[in-house]
Amino acid sequence: MPLFEGLGSGGEKTAVVIDLGSAYTKCGFAGETGPRCIIPSEMPRPGLQQPIKVVQYNINTDELYSTLKDFIHMLYFRHLLVNPRDRRVVVVESVLCPSHFRDTLAKVLFKHFEVPSVLFTPSHLVSVLTLGINSALVMDCGYTETLVLPVYEGIPILSAWEALPLGGKAIHKELEGLLVEQCTVDTDSKTGQSLPSVISSIPEEVVEDIKARTCFVSDLQRGLKIQEARFSREGTVERPAPPPDVDYPLDGEKIIHIKGSIRDSVMEVLFEQDNEEKSVASLVLDALVKCPIDARKTLSENLVVVGGTAMLPGFLHRLLAEIRRLAEKPRYQQTLATKSFRLHSPPAKPNCTVWLGGAIFGALQDILGSRSVSRDYYHQTGRIPDWCCLTTPPSESVCDTSKTLPSLMKRVFSTEK
Ligand SMILES: Nc1ncnc2c1ncn2[C@@H]1O[C@H](COP(=O)(O)OP(=O)(O)OP(=O)(O)O)[C@@H](O)[C@H]1O
Ligand SMILES: [Mg+2]
Repeated sequence: MPLFEGLGSGGEKTAVVIDLGSAYTKCGFAGETGPRCIIPSEMPRPGLQQPIKVVQYNINTDELYSTLKDFIHMLYFRHLLVNPRDRRVVVVESVLCPSHFRDTLAKVLFKHFEVPSVLFTPSHLVSVLTLGINSALVMDCGYTETLVLPVYEGIPILSAWEALPLGGKAIHKELEGLLVEQCTVDTDSKTGQSLPSVISSIPEEVVEDIKARTCFVSDLQRGLKIQEARFSREGTVERPAPPPDVDYPLDGEKIIHIKGSIRDSVMEVLFEQDNEEKSVASLVLDALVKCPIDARKTLSENLVVVGGTAMLPGFLHRLLAEIRRLAEKPRYQQTLATKSFRLHSPPAKPNCTVWLGGAIFGALQDILGSRSVSRDYYHQTGRIPDWCCLTTPPSESVCDTSKTLPSLMKRVFSTEK
Protein backbone atom coordinates (compact mmCIF):
# COMPACT_ATOMS: atom_id res chain seq x y z
CA MET A 1 0.00 0.00 0.00
CA PRO A 2 1.69 3.20 -1.15
CA LEU A 3 0.50 5.32 1.81
CA PHE A 4 1.98 3.03 4.44
CA GLU A 5 5.13 2.31 2.48
CA GLY A 6 5.80 6.04 2.42
CA LEU A 7 5.34 6.60 6.12
CA GLY A 8 8.50 7.40 8.09
CA SER A 9 10.89 6.59 5.27
CA GLY A 10 10.68 9.76 3.23
CA GLY A 11 8.79 7.91 0.54
CA GLU A 12 11.56 5.45 -0.28
CA LYS A 13 10.54 1.84 -0.37
CA THR A 14 12.37 -0.73 1.71
CA ALA A 15 15.29 -2.42 0.00
CA VAL A 16 15.29 -5.99 -1.26
CA VAL A 17 17.87 -8.17 0.52
CA ILE A 18 19.25 -11.23 -1.28
CA ASP A 19 21.58 -13.89 0.14
CA LEU A 20 22.43 -16.05 -2.85
CA GLY A 21 23.81 -19.24 -1.29
CA SER A 22 25.11 -22.19 -3.26
CA ALA A 23 22.30 -24.40 -1.89
CA TYR A 24 19.54 -22.01 -0.81
CA THR A 25 18.69 -18.41 -1.62
CA LYS A 26 17.19 -16.31 1.14
CA CYS A 27 15.31 -13.26 -0.04
CA GLY A 28 13.13 -10.62 1.58
CA PHE A 29 12.85 -6.99 2.60
CA ALA A 30 15.14 -4.83 4.72
CA GLY A 31 13.93 -4.12 8.23
CA GLU A 32 12.06 -7.42 8.53
CA THR A 33 13.04 -10.15 10.98
CA GLY A 34 13.25 -13.02 8.52
CA PRO A 35 13.39 -13.68 4.78
CA ARG A 36 10.12 -13.91 2.81
CA CYS A 37 11.39 -17.00 1.01
CA ILE A 38 14.12 -19.62 1.27
CA ILE A 39 14.30 -21.46 -2.03
CA PRO A 40 16.81 -23.82 -3.66
CA SER A 41 19.33 -21.87 -5.74
CA GLU A 42 18.47 -23.69 -8.95
CA MET A 43 16.49 -23.16 -12.13
CA PRO A 44 14.67 -25.78 -14.19
CA ARG A 45 15.73 -25.73 -17.83
CA PRO A 46 13.61 -26.99 -20.72
CA GLY A 47 14.97 -30.25 -22.06
CA LEU A 48 17.04 -30.98 -18.96
CA GLN A 49 15.86 -33.39 -16.30
CA GLN A 50 17.91 -31.87 -13.52
CA PRO A 51 17.54 -28.15 -12.71
CA ILE A 52 20.78 -26.23 -13.06
CA LYS A 53 22.53 -24.64 -10.09
CA VAL A 54 22.47 -20.86 -10.08
CA VAL A 55 25.69 -20.40 -8.10
CA GLN A 56 28.27 -21.94 -10.39
CA TYR A 57 31.64 -20.37 -10.89
CA ASN A 58 32.95 -22.49 -13.74
CA ILE A 59 30.36 -21.85 -16.45
CA ASN A 60 30.65 -19.23 -19.17
CA THR A 61 29.38 -15.73 -18.56
CA ASP A 62 26.51 -15.83 -21.08
CA GLU A 63 25.08 -18.97 -19.56
CA LEU A 64 25.46 -17.52 -16.06
CA TYR A 65 23.78 -14.27 -17.17
CA SER A 66 20.80 -16.14 -18.56
CA THR A 67 20.41 -18.36 -15.47
CA LEU A 68 20.72 -15.43 -13.07
CA LYS A 69 18.24 -13.40 -15.12
CA ASP A 70 15.60 -16.13 -14.90
CA PHE A 71 16.29 -16.76 -11.23
CA ILE A 72 16.07 -13.10 -10.19
CA HIS A 73 12.91 -12.78 -12.30
CA MET A 74 11.41 -15.64 -10.30
CA LEU A 75 12.44 -13.99 -7.02
CA TYR A 76 10.76 -10.70 -7.88
CA PHE A 77 7.65 -11.92 -9.67
CA ARG A 78 6.83 -15.14 -7.87
CA HIS A 79 8.05 -14.54 -4.32
CA LEU A 80 8.50 -10.83 -3.56
CA LEU A 81 5.83 -9.46 -5.91
CA VAL A 82 7.35 -5.97 -6.19
CA ASN A 83 8.66 -3.88 -9.05
CA PRO A 84 12.50 -4.16 -9.24
CA ARG A 85 12.79 -0.53 -10.45
CA ASP A 86 11.36 0.79 -7.17
CA ARG A 87 13.75 -0.66 -4.63
CA ARG A 88 17.43 -0.66 -3.86
CA VAL A 89 19.07 -4.08 -3.57
CA VAL A 90 21.42 -5.41 -0.88
CA VAL A 91 23.34 -8.52 -1.96
CA VAL A 92 25.07 -10.42 0.82
CA GLU A 93 28.02 -12.27 -0.65
CA SER A 94 30.89 -14.46 0.48
CA VAL A 95 34.34 -12.88 0.54
CA LEU A 96 35.46 -15.70 -1.73
CA CYS A 97 32.86 -14.92 -4.42
CA PRO A 98 34.74 -14.52 -7.75
CA SER A 99 34.56 -11.10 -9.44
CA HIS A 100 33.03 -12.48 -12.62
CA PHE A 101 30.04 -13.78 -10.65
CA ARG A 102 29.33 -10.48 -8.88
CA ASP A 103 29.92 -8.55 -12.14
CA THR A 104 27.40 -10.76 -13.95
CA LEU A 105 24.91 -10.41 -11.10
CA ALA A 106 25.34 -6.62 -11.16
CA LYS A 107 24.81 -6.61 -14.94
CA VAL A 108 21.58 -8.59 -14.56
CA LEU A 109 20.30 -6.31 -11.80
CA PHE A 110 21.22 -3.01 -13.46
CA LYS A 111 20.75 -3.74 -17.16
CA HIS A 112 17.88 -6.19 -17.16
CA PHE A 113 15.92 -5.25 -14.04
CA GLU A 114 17.01 -1.57 -13.87
CA VAL A 115 17.24 -1.53 -10.08
CA PRO A 116 18.14 1.94 -8.65
CA SER A 117 21.22 0.75 -6.72
CA VAL A 118 23.02 -2.34 -5.49
CA LEU A 119 25.11 -2.81 -2.36
CA PHE A 120 27.37 -5.84 -2.23
CA THR A 121 28.24 -6.57 1.35
CA PRO A 122 30.39 -9.34 2.84
CA SER A 123 28.39 -11.98 4.67
CA HIS A 124 30.73 -12.41 7.65
CA LEU A 125 30.73 -8.69 8.35
CA VAL A 126 26.96 -8.29 8.32
CA SER A 127 26.51 -11.37 10.56
CA VAL A 128 28.23 -9.37 13.30
CA LEU A 129 25.62 -6.61 12.90
CA THR A 130 22.90 -8.90 14.27
CA LEU A 131 24.59 -9.09 17.69
CA GLY A 132 25.44 -5.51 18.58
CA ILE A 133 29.16 -6.25 18.91
CA ASN A 134 31.93 -5.15 16.60
CA SER A 135 34.53 -7.87 17.05
CA ALA A 136 33.84 -11.54 16.41
CA LEU A 137 35.32 -14.61 14.82
CA VAL A 138 32.67 -15.62 12.30
CA MET A 139 32.35 -19.14 10.91
CA ASP A 140 29.98 -19.79 8.00
CA CYS A 141 29.28 -23.49 7.69
CA GLY A 142 26.96 -23.72 4.70
CA TYR A 143 26.72 -26.05 1.74
CA THR A 144 29.98 -26.03 -0.23
CA GLU A 145 32.47 -24.90 2.35
CA THR A 146 33.20 -23.73 5.85
CA LEU A 147 34.77 -20.28 5.87
CA VAL A 148 36.18 -18.58 8.95
CA LEU A 149 36.87 -14.83 8.95
CA PRO A 150 37.74 -12.69 11.97
CA VAL A 151 36.17 -9.24 12.21
CA TYR A 152 37.92 -6.85 14.59
CA GLU A 153 36.42 -3.47 15.49
CA GLY A 154 34.25 -3.70 12.40
CA ILE A 155 37.12 -4.48 10.02
CA PRO A 156 37.48 -7.99 8.55
CA ILE A 157 41.04 -9.32 8.99
CA LEU A 158 41.28 -10.60 5.45
CA SER A 159 44.74 -12.10 5.81
CA ALA A 160 43.42 -14.50 8.47
CA TRP A 161 40.65 -16.24 6.54
CA GLU A 162 40.58 -20.02 6.61
CA ALA A 163 38.37 -22.35 4.59
CA LEU A 164 37.82 -26.05 3.91
CA PRO A 165 35.41 -27.74 1.49
CA LEU A 166 33.42 -29.17 4.41
CA GLY A 167 29.70 -28.45 4.65
CA GLY A 168 26.36 -29.89 3.59
CA LYS A 169 27.76 -31.17 0.29
CA ALA A 170 30.55 -33.17 1.93
CA ILE A 171 28.07 -34.70 4.38
CA HIS A 172 25.68 -35.66 1.57
CA LYS A 173 28.48 -37.36 -0.35
CA GLU A 174 29.58 -39.33 2.69
CA LEU A 175 26.02 -40.26 3.61
CA GLU A 176 25.16 -41.41 0.09
CA GLY A 177 28.25 -43.64 0.06
CA LEU A 178 27.33 -45.21 3.40
CA LEU A 179 23.69 -45.73 2.40
CA VAL A 180 24.64 -47.45 -0.86
CA GLU A 181 27.22 -49.62 0.92
CA GLN A 182 25.38 -50.67 4.05
CA CYS A 183 21.62 -50.18 3.81
CA THR A 184 18.90 -52.53 2.66
CA VAL A 185 15.55 -51.80 1.03
CA ASP A 186 12.19 -53.54 1.42
CA THR A 187 9.74 -53.51 -1.46
CA ASP A 188 6.25 -55.04 -1.71
CA SER A 189 7.65 -58.13 -3.38
CA LYS A 190 10.95 -58.69 -1.54
CA THR A 191 12.71 -57.65 1.67
CA GLY A 192 16.37 -57.04 2.50
CA GLN A 193 17.52 -56.11 -1.01
CA SER A 194 20.71 -54.13 -1.44
CA LEU A 195 20.09 -50.48 -2.27
CA PRO A 196 21.91 -50.34 -5.67
CA SER A 197 19.81 -53.29 -6.91
CA VAL A 198 16.61 -51.30 -6.35
CA ILE A 199 17.52 -47.73 -7.33
CA SER A 200 20.48 -46.56 -9.39
CA SER A 201 21.16 -43.40 -7.36
CA ILE A 202 19.55 -41.52 -4.50
CA PRO A 203 18.50 -37.96 -5.39
CA GLU A 204 20.35 -35.33 -3.36
CA GLU A 205 17.17 -33.92 -1.84
CA VAL A 206 16.37 -37.38 -0.42
CA VAL A 207 19.89 -37.69 1.02
CA GLU A 208 19.47 -34.22 2.54
CA ASP A 209 16.12 -35.17 4.04
CA ILE A 210 17.57 -38.37 5.53
CA LYS A 211 20.42 -36.29 6.99
CA ALA A 212 18.16 -33.66 8.54
CA ARG A 213 15.62 -36.16 9.91
CA THR A 214 17.75 -39.04 11.13
CA CYS A 215 21.39 -38.03 11.65
CA PHE A 216 23.09 -36.09 14.44
CA VAL A 217 26.52 -35.00 15.59
CA SER A 218 27.93 -37.24 18.32
CA ASP A 219 29.53 -35.66 21.37
CA LEU A 220 33.31 -35.46 21.65
CA GLN A 221 34.02 -38.70 23.59
CA ARG A 222 31.68 -40.73 21.42
CA GLY A 223 32.96 -39.14 18.20
CA LEU A 224 36.59 -39.87 19.08
CA LYS A 225 35.73 -43.51 19.85
CA ILE A 226 33.85 -43.86 16.55
CA GLN A 227 36.85 -42.47 14.66
CA GLU A 228 39.25 -44.70 16.56
CA ALA A 229 37.14 -47.79 15.87
CA ARG A 230 36.90 -46.91 12.18
CA PHE A 231 40.63 -46.54 11.73
CA SER A 232 41.71 -49.43 13.97
CA ARG A 233 42.86 -52.57 12.20
CA GLU A 234 40.59 -55.62 12.30
CA GLY A 235 38.26 -54.16 14.87
CA THR A 236 40.64 -54.10 17.84
CA VAL A 237 38.85 -51.03 19.21
CA GLU A 238 35.18 -51.45 20.04
CA ARG A 239 32.70 -48.94 18.71
CA PRO A 240 30.18 -47.33 21.12
CA ALA A 241 26.69 -48.88 20.90
CA PRO A 242 24.88 -47.27 17.96
CA PRO A 243 21.45 -45.58 18.24
CA PRO A 244 18.42 -47.53 16.93
CA ASP A 245 18.00 -48.18 13.20
CA VAL A 246 15.37 -46.09 11.41
CA ASP A 247 12.98 -46.99 8.57
CA TYR A 248 12.74 -44.23 5.98
CA PRO A 249 9.98 -44.46 3.34
CA LEU A 250 11.61 -43.72 -0.02
CA ASP A 251 8.33 -43.51 -1.89
CA GLY A 252 5.00 -45.34 -1.71
CA GLU A 253 6.58 -48.74 -2.31
CA LYS A 254 10.10 -48.79 -0.91
CA ILE A 255 11.33 -48.57 2.66
CA ILE A 256 15.00 -48.04 3.36
CA HIS A 257 16.53 -49.29 6.63
CA ILE A 258 19.00 -46.76 7.90
CA LYS A 259 21.52 -48.24 10.28
CA GLY A 260 22.06 -46.56 13.63
CA SER A 261 25.82 -46.70 13.05
CA ILE A 262 25.38 -44.40 10.04
CA ARG A 263 23.19 -41.95 11.96
CA ASP A 264 25.80 -41.14 14.59
CA SER A 265 28.96 -41.43 12.50
CA VAL A 266 28.32 -39.64 9.20
CA MET A 267 28.99 -36.15 10.64
CA GLU A 268 32.48 -37.22 11.74
CA VAL A 269 33.59 -36.16 8.27
CA LEU A 270 33.49 -32.56 9.55
CA PHE A 271 35.63 -33.21 12.61
CA GLU A 272 38.10 -35.87 11.45
CA GLN A 273 41.46 -34.28 10.93
CA ASP A 274 42.84 -34.80 7.43
CA ASN A 275 46.49 -35.37 6.49
CA GLU A 276 47.27 -31.74 7.22
CA GLU A 277 45.48 -32.02 10.60
CA LYS A 278 42.68 -29.75 9.44
CA SER A 279 39.05 -29.98 10.43
CA VAL A 280 36.18 -27.56 10.93
CA ALA A 281 37.41 -26.88 14.48
CA SER A 282 41.05 -26.37 13.53
CA LEU A 283 39.97 -23.62 11.09
CA VAL A 284 38.99 -21.46 14.07
CA LEU A 285 42.32 -21.94 15.80
CA ASP A 286 44.33 -21.46 12.60
CA ALA A 287 42.47 -18.21 11.88
CA LEU A 288 43.13 -17.02 15.45
CA VAL A 289 46.84 -17.74 15.18
CA LYS A 290 46.98 -15.53 12.08
CA CYS A 291 45.42 -12.59 13.97
CA PRO A 292 47.38 -9.98 15.96
CA ILE A 293 48.10 -11.39 19.43
CA ASP A 294 46.22 -8.66 21.31
CA ALA A 295 43.05 -9.31 19.31
CA ARG A 296 42.91 -13.05 19.92
CA LYS A 297 41.23 -13.12 23.34
CA THR A 298 38.43 -10.82 22.19
CA LEU A 299 37.90 -12.92 19.08
CA SER A 300 37.98 -16.31 20.82
CA GLU A 301 35.41 -15.10 23.34
CA ASN A 302 33.12 -13.93 20.56
CA LEU A 303 32.65 -16.89 18.24
CA VAL A 304 29.68 -16.58 15.88
CA VAL A 305 28.62 -19.63 13.87
CA VAL A 306 26.24 -19.15 10.92
CA GLY A 307 25.10 -21.33 8.00
CA GLY A 308 22.59 -24.18 7.73
CA THR A 309 25.01 -26.97 8.63
CA ALA A 310 25.34 -25.44 12.12
CA MET A 311 21.68 -26.41 12.64
CA LEU A 312 22.53 -30.11 12.84
CA PRO A 313 21.68 -31.39 16.32
CA GLY A 314 24.80 -31.36 18.50
CA PHE A 315 26.96 -29.38 16.05
CA LEU A 316 27.69 -26.33 18.21
CA HIS A 317 28.36 -28.38 21.33
CA ARG A 318 30.79 -30.63 19.49
CA LEU A 319 32.50 -27.70 17.77
CA LEU A 320 33.22 -25.99 21.06
CA ALA A 321 34.44 -29.23 22.66
CA GLU A 322 36.72 -29.91 19.66
CA ILE A 323 38.13 -26.37 19.76
CA ARG A 324 38.91 -26.69 23.48
CA ARG A 325 40.52 -30.09 22.94
CA LEU A 326 42.68 -28.92 20.05
CA ALA A 327 43.70 -25.75 21.92
CA GLU A 328 45.41 -27.99 24.51
CA LYS A 329 47.63 -29.58 21.85
CA PRO A 330 51.27 -28.42 21.78
CA ARG A 331 50.77 -27.04 18.25
CA TYR A 332 48.39 -24.37 19.54
CA GLN A 333 49.18 -24.22 23.25
CA GLN A 334 52.32 -22.19 22.76
CA THR A 335 51.11 -19.91 19.99
CA LEU A 336 47.45 -19.22 20.68
CA ALA A 337 47.65 -16.84 23.68
CA THR A 338 44.04 -17.46 24.67
CA LYS A 339 42.24 -20.29 26.39
CA SER A 340 38.67 -19.14 26.69
CA PHE A 341 36.20 -19.82 23.90
CA ARG A 342 32.59 -18.68 23.92
CA LEU A 343 29.81 -18.90 21.39
CA HIS A 344 27.21 -16.24 20.66
CA SER A 345 23.65 -17.17 19.80
CA PRO A 346 22.43 -14.74 17.13
CA PRO A 347 18.75 -13.70 17.07
CA ALA A 348 17.93 -15.82 14.00
CA LYS A 349 18.29 -19.43 12.90
CA PRO A 350 21.89 -20.02 11.73
CA ASN A 351 20.90 -20.34 8.04
CA CYS A 352 19.19 -16.91 8.14
CA THR A 353 21.67 -14.95 10.29
CA VAL A 354 23.59 -13.66 7.28
CA TRP A 355 20.36 -12.53 5.62
CA LEU A 356 19.25 -10.80 8.84
CA GLY A 357 22.53 -8.86 8.94
CA GLY A 358 21.84 -7.68 5.38
CA ALA A 359 18.29 -6.73 6.35
CA ILE A 360 19.56 -4.63 9.29
CA PHE A 361 22.08 -2.89 7.05
CA GLY A 362 19.49 -2.32 4.34
CA ALA A 363 17.11 -0.69 6.82
CA LEU A 364 19.45 2.29 7.27
CA GLN A 365 18.20 4.11 4.23
CA ASP A 366 20.42 7.19 4.29
CA ILE A 367 23.58 5.12 4.78
CA LEU A 368 22.40 2.65 2.16
CA GLY A 369 21.95 5.52 -0.27
CA SER A 370 25.49 6.78 0.09
CA ARG A 371 27.18 3.38 0.22
CA SER A 372 25.50 1.62 -2.67
CA VAL A 373 26.60 1.56 -6.28
CA SER A 374 23.98 3.59 -8.10
CA ARG A 375 22.59 2.80 -11.54
CA ASP A 376 24.14 5.99 -12.96
CA TYR A 377 27.56 5.17 -11.54
CA TYR A 378 27.31 1.67 -13.01
CA HIS A 379 26.29 2.93 -16.42
CA GLN A 380 29.14 5.48 -16.42
CA THR A 381 31.91 3.12 -15.32
CA GLY A 382 30.47 -0.29 -16.21
CA ARG A 383 31.99 -1.88 -13.12
CA ILE A 384 31.42 -2.60 -9.47
CA PRO A 385 34.22 -1.46 -7.15
CA ASP A 386 35.55 -4.15 -4.85
CA TRP A 387 34.28 -3.61 -1.31
CA CYS A 388 37.75 -3.93 0.17
CA CYS A 389 39.51 -1.95 -2.55
CA LEU A 390 41.58 0.80 -0.91
CA THR A 391 42.51 2.48 -4.18
CA THR A 392 38.91 3.45 -4.94
CA PRO A 393 38.41 7.08 -3.92
CA PRO A 394 35.59 7.61 -1.44
CA SER A 395 32.55 8.62 -3.40
CA GLU A 396 28.86 9.00 -2.94
CA SER A 397 28.22 6.00 -5.07
CA VAL A 398 30.94 3.65 -3.97
CA CYS A 399 30.24 0.94 -1.47
CA ASP A 400 32.80 0.77 1.33
CA THR A 401 31.15 -1.13 4.09
CA SER A 402 34.29 -2.12 5.93
CA LYS A 403 35.33 1.42 6.84
CA THR A 404 31.96 2.48 8.08
CA LEU A 405 30.97 -0.47 10.21
CA PRO A 406 32.08 0.88 13.61
CA SER A 407 30.13 4.10 13.12
CA LEU A 408 27.25 2.11 11.71
CA MET A 409 27.19 -0.13 14.77
CA LYS A 410 26.84 2.93 16.97
CA ARG A 411 23.91 4.03 14.86
CA VAL A 412 22.11 0.73 14.82
CA PHE A 413 22.41 0.05 18.50
CA SER A 414 22.38 3.54 19.95
CA THR A 415 19.42 4.25 22.18
CA GLU A 416 19.55 7.98 21.49
CA LYS A 417 17.00 9.37 19.08
N1 LIG B 1 17.51 -27.78 10.07
C1 LIG B 1 18.57 -28.25 9.46
N2 LIG B 1 19.22 -29.33 9.93
C2 LIG B 1 20.30 -29.80 9.30
N3 LIG B 1 20.84 -29.27 8.20
C3 LIG B 1 20.27 -28.20 7.68
C4 LIG B 1 19.09 -27.63 8.27
N4 LIG B 1 18.73 -26.56 7.52
C5 LIG B 1 19.62 -26.47 6.52
N5 LIG B 1 20.54 -27.45 6.61
C6 LIG B 1 21.66 -27.70 5.70
O1 LIG B 1 22.39 -26.51 5.55
C7 LIG B 1 22.92 -26.43 4.23
C8 LIG B 1 22.54 -25.12 3.62
O2 LIG B 1 22.99 -24.09 4.46
P1 LIG B 1 22.98 -22.60 3.95
O3 LIG B 1 21.62 -22.22 3.52
O4 LIG B 1 23.67 -21.79 4.98
O5 LIG B 1 23.93 -22.77 2.69
P2 LIG B 1 24.17 -21.77 1.50
O6 LIG B 1 24.16 -20.37 2.03
O7 LIG B 1 23.20 -22.08 0.41
O8 LIG B 1 25.58 -22.25 1.04
P3 LIG B 1 26.96 -21.46 1.01
O9 LIG B 1 26.95 -20.47 2.14
O10 LIG B 1 27.99 -22.54 1.15
O11 LIG B 1 26.99 -20.81 -0.34
C9 LIG B 1 22.32 -27.58 3.43
O12 LIG B 1 23.30 -28.57 3.25
C10 LIG B 1 21.19 -28.07 4.32
O13 LIG B 1 21.05 -29.46 4.20
MG1 LIG C 1 25.51 -19.02 2.79
